[in-house]
Amino acid sequence: METPSTSILLTLTLTISSLVLVRSGDPDILSDFLIPPTLDPSTVTRQFFTFTGFRNLRKANLTGKTNALITKATKKEFPVLHGQSVSVATLLYPPSGINPPHIHPRSAELLLVLQGELEVGFVDSTNKLFVQTLRAPDLFLFPKGLVHFQVNNDAHLPAAAVAMFGSSDAGTISIPRGVFGSGIKDDILAKAFATDKETIAKIVEANEPLT
Ligand SMILES: *[C@@H]1O[C@H](CO)[C@@H](O)[C@H](O)[C@H]1NC(C)=O
Repeated sequence: METPSTSILLTLTLTISSLVLVRSGDPDILSDFLIPPTLDPSTVTRQFFTFTGFRNLRKANLTGKTNALITKATKKEFPVLHGQSVSVATLLYPPSGINPPHIHPRSAELLLVLQGELEVGFVDSTNKLFVQTLRAPDLFLFPKGLVHFQVNNDAHLPAAAVAMFGSSDAGTISIPRGVFGSGIKDDILAKAFATDKETIAKIVEANEPLT
């Protein structure tokens, strides 16, 4: 038999869980925008809302590169994004270039192909792989927290894309570096991947953490 207090508790639980589900971005802020403590609010102009870091892409040199050149505009590079729940990254893929499997723990990713063709994919939590071939200007969604990758299968032409996130700092965990460049002991990895320590040592060496 249901007592009034259990139904109140149930209602409360359902309300709280639906609130948690609805709030999928960064925490809301209580002002129009946030100004870093190091900045005098009276000096804030339109420049504060402008990011020019992508201008460097005009002189990007992809020759000899195997991985995509990723340029981020998160709250770190573009402080006005603090509290605004958005950020972007540009990706330039050399011919045959890849963006190795990785995770963004704090946001889904919308990938808009600007130039060329990309093979993309992600793996869901049942280990089901979804792969797709995209051609500019196609758009693809990588759900939050799932392992995903992109490959430029063209051996001669570069490709370009812009990635959009619903967080000012979506975070990136590289699977190769996050696992093999993380400092986890070789014998643990050897057991986990059912291989020997020498093989693990070789992979670890190729995946030193970024400094
Ligand atoms: C681009 O990089 C390659 C390899 O590092 C180098 O040989 C080439 O001179 C560079 N090109 C330009 C235009 O800087």
